[in-house]
Amino acid sequence: MADLSVDFCGIKFKNPVVIASIETTNSPEVIRECVDAGAGGMIIKTLTDIEDMARLTQNSKYAILNEKSEPIRGKVNRNFVFYSRSGYSSTGYREWVPYLKELNKYAEDHGSHLIGSAGGKTVQSWVDICRTIEDCGLPMVELNFGCPHPAMMPGVHGGSMIGQEPDVAEEVTRRVCEAVKIPVVVKLTPDQSRVLEVARAVQRAGAAAVTATNRYTGFSIDIETGSPRLGGPAGIGGVWAKPLSLRWVHRIHTELGMPITGSNGIYDHRDIVEFIMAGAGIVQVGSVLMLKGIKFLPKIIAGLEEFMDSHGYDDMESMFGIASRRSVKDYGEQFRKPRMHSEVNHATCKNPSCTICIQTCFYDTLWQSDGQVGSHLDHCIGCEMCTQTCPFDSIHMHVTSDEQRLSGDFFTISEGVFEPEKFENGFDRGISLSRVKD
Ligand SMILES: Cc1cc2nc3c(=O)[nH]c(=O)nc-3n(C[C@H](O)[C@H](O)[C@H](O)COP(=O)(O)O)c2cc1C
Ligand code: SF4
Ligand code: SF4
Repeated sequence: MADLSVDFCGIKFKNPVVIASIETTNSPEVIRECVDAGAGGMIIKTLTDIEDMARLTQNSKYAILNEKSEPIRGKVNRNFVFYSRSGYSSTGYREWVPYLKELNKYAEDHGSHLIGSAGGKTVQSWVDICRTIEDCGLPMVELNFGCPHPAMMPGVHGGSMIGQEPDVAEEVTRRVCEAVKIPVVVKLTPDQSRVLEVARAVQRAGAAAVTATNRYTGFSIDIETGSPRLGGPAGIGGVWAKPLSLRWVHRIHTELGMPITGSNGIYDHRDIVEFIMAGAGIVQVGSVLMLKGIKFLPKIIAGLEEFMDSHGYDDMESMFGIASRRSVKDYGEQFRKPRMHSEVNHATCKNPSCTICIQTCFYDTLWQSDGQVGSHLDHCIGCEMCTQTCPFDSIHMHVTSDEQRLSGDFFTISEGVFEPEKFENGFDRGISLSRVKD
């Protein structure tokens, strides 16, 4: 059986599945349920001294939508869209103190970890909340620089407003890191283009890891009434956000080499595997448990174990970052890969009743020819679109041999495209700039 344990920032997790800071971790009872259900860890709902952010949670609103952007009635599947408005922990951080100590002990007794989360009013409050978390014995704290809601709360400062400003994020992180000894994790906001810059800034300030990422801000509309859902902009997430989160996990892992907790877009073990393969050491599971209940958690963990067993991964290390290592650096590198072309299997092809591939090839390669699909292979650019639109798995890609390529019957990438030297001496860039000026 695969070993799911992982060392993250010096802390041993029995498995990488950590419950995100969310409504689930806003109550001692449910935190205990998470421990009982086998969670590797739980991040408490953000502890705060901002009264309005506690009040916001007491007035939360949720719109759970399906792939047609209509409210889900009944079973929730992986297409859900979670549109919501909520704040930080609904009780002030000092009131949590006795519970933090007790829950931390309960977690440790079961081989799990209670992790802190902070969102303060002033820099000093960030420090005070994190010190309180450390004094209660919690082994790690996450700074919530990713919450989308403070930006929509008049008079409140925090969350993504800090996570969008590298200098401010660096300063708050530095002050917290100077004040506590436990590892500090910074939760990033994807609501910006400077994610890497912010990650670099908090790394400089002493953060042990980053969380990539919190959720986006969205705007959802009920087309029957013509009104925005929940009255206007709100936080938004769902599995659709996963590739967007993975982009940042990949870049932070590759370019900064920082430990990462992966968040934003996990439904089940498949999504966890993607986060780990991109370079996340542990992952956070959030909204899916709000919708399906804690009973879904053991299924996620069992699914991960089964996946690893059936795919020959003995431990987390063997999956960690493998996709990021295999990734091309840029499209220039992509162009140096072998050229491919499509071939139709006429034995299984349903043409002429089906013509989908002909309609979805935008390079004039496929055409209708005497009751079967004809191919102008000299036009085929190897884009792979037809292999995916064919409903009968009747088109496959093949590596174009040197002989085929040199015969001139195959499309060739014109000489000089993506030659790195040209970019280095600014030649191509110069041309495109002068074109812009013209
Ligand atoms: C209703 C709701 C409340 C949340 N509250 C917090 C919070 O208090 N602190 C925080 O850091 N993140 C909060 N988050 C963000 C989650 O921790 C998590 O990063 C996000 O939901 C993406 O993960 P998921 O796709 O697994 O839901 C909240 C998310 C939702 C949906
Ligand atoms: S691989 Fe792309 S270009 Fe080639 S036939 Fe298929 S759709 Fe057309
Ligand atoms: S989409 Fe598939 S089945 Fe349909 S015509 Fe093309 S190859 Fe044949």
